[in-house]
Amino acid sequence: MLTEEENALLMQTQPGTRMGELMRRYWQPIAAVGEFDTQPIKAIRLLGEDLVLYKDRSGTFGLLERHCAHRRADLSYGVVEDCGLRCNYHGWRYDETGQCIEQPFDDLAYPEAHFKEKIRLRAYPVQAKAGLLWAYLGPSPAPLLPDWGPFHWENGMVQLVFTEVPCNWFQCQENSIDPVHFEWLHSYWSYELRGRSGAPAPRHIKVGFDEFDYGFVYRRIQEGMDETHPLWTVGRTCLWPNALYTGDHFEWRVPVDDTTTLSVGWFFDALAPGHELPGGKRYYHWYSPIKEAETGRWINSHTMNQDFVAWVGQGALADRSLEHLSPSDRGVILMRQKMFEQMDVVAEGGDPTNIFRDPALNRELQLPHPRTGTSGGPVTASPRFPFLAEQPSEIAEIYRQVKAGWGQADGYGRGRTPD
Ligand code: FES
Ligand SMILES: [Fe+2]
Repeated sequence: MLTEEENALLMQTQPGTRMGELMRRYWQPIAAVGEFDTQPIKAIRLLGEDLVLYKDRSGTFGLLERHCAHRRADLSYGVVEDCGLRCNYHGWRYDETGQCIEQPFDDLAYPEAHFKEKIRLRAYPVQAKAGLLWAYLGPSPAPLLPDWGPFHWENGMVQLVFTEVPCNWFQCQENSIDPVHFEWLHSYWSYELRGRSGAPAPRHIKVGFDEFDYGFVYRRIQEGMDETHPLWTVGRTCLWPNALYTGDHFEWRVPVDDTTTLSVGWFFDALAPGHELPGGKRYYHWYSPIKEAETGRWINSHTMNQDFVAWVGQGALADRSLEHLSPSDRGVILMRQKMFEQMDVVAEGGDPTNIFRDPALNRELQLPHPRTGTSGGPVTASPRFPFLAEQPSEIAEIYRQVKAGWGQADGYGRGRTPD
């Protein structure tokens, strides 16, 4: 159980707060690269700051504070130019460093004033990687964007799935080190929701947690398993500071502000040998709703939607002073302790853990999981993407073709292993 003060510390996202400053030391995924093929400007909120993300006509991405330095118009309604973003109100133009590079009236009427040279917006670096756009809001110099090994897997389809979740990011991340919830939130509840057909997952009888270079690993033994099972020998990764990696997909819990999280999923589905990507395209992005349109209730039909139900159910800001933790929560406790320790490291001017600055040490970083290469369920005539609801039909068709390539008989038809 935490004190109210400790509880509050864990949930801060604003600049100048201890957790806000810690999270600013890490690159955060904020959108899909492909979104900018059709719409070059997007309003972004990240770590409590209102920003605008754009791709100019020469292909350069910029991330600037949302409001124009002149009279504060909203730059997410601006105009992208060959270089930079132009405010729609009086035409001031900024480049990706935030520097004002044009003031149409002043440049013409008072060129000797060089007023634009004195104007600069707050700007943050943006990088594209693995189909995602990543932002870094911390102090310079920015660390390297981690080069996780799965980003190099080539022969497969990648889905980038975004959901806005109306609660604090840290309670979402605590779910990344919670093996027992799988048995109940996903398996037993699903068994109930489908009318008690089939069988729920075997009971957990042992869990284990270990820290390693990139975060924590959690392990489980369920009835019928022994300690040679990969879920015990290898486990699953709670990736520091705000992600889960299961062997076939990543889930980031990105702090939008204190009471909003952007869930970003990166799902890989391998092609069967000899098969090519349908349509020749690797990355597909989509936004998944969190509520049923008809009832206004949380969607409960898919794995991550079930997680969302648990997270938002804890309240917009979970009150950990009211909890009663049990031995199954040892991983949660370890992660909280590590967060407090790392807030101190940053407050004292140090680099926190899992920061990469040497390019030689940031190449295809291997995570402790065998590549499973499939995020789907059993290979059937109509495979269903199991993680998030309302996959667009054109992406569902590509997914169907990728899964169908495997046929019925190979190892990829076994169904997924627990998260
Ligand atoms: S408010 Fe942006 S140019 Fe005037
Ligand atoms: Fe889960």
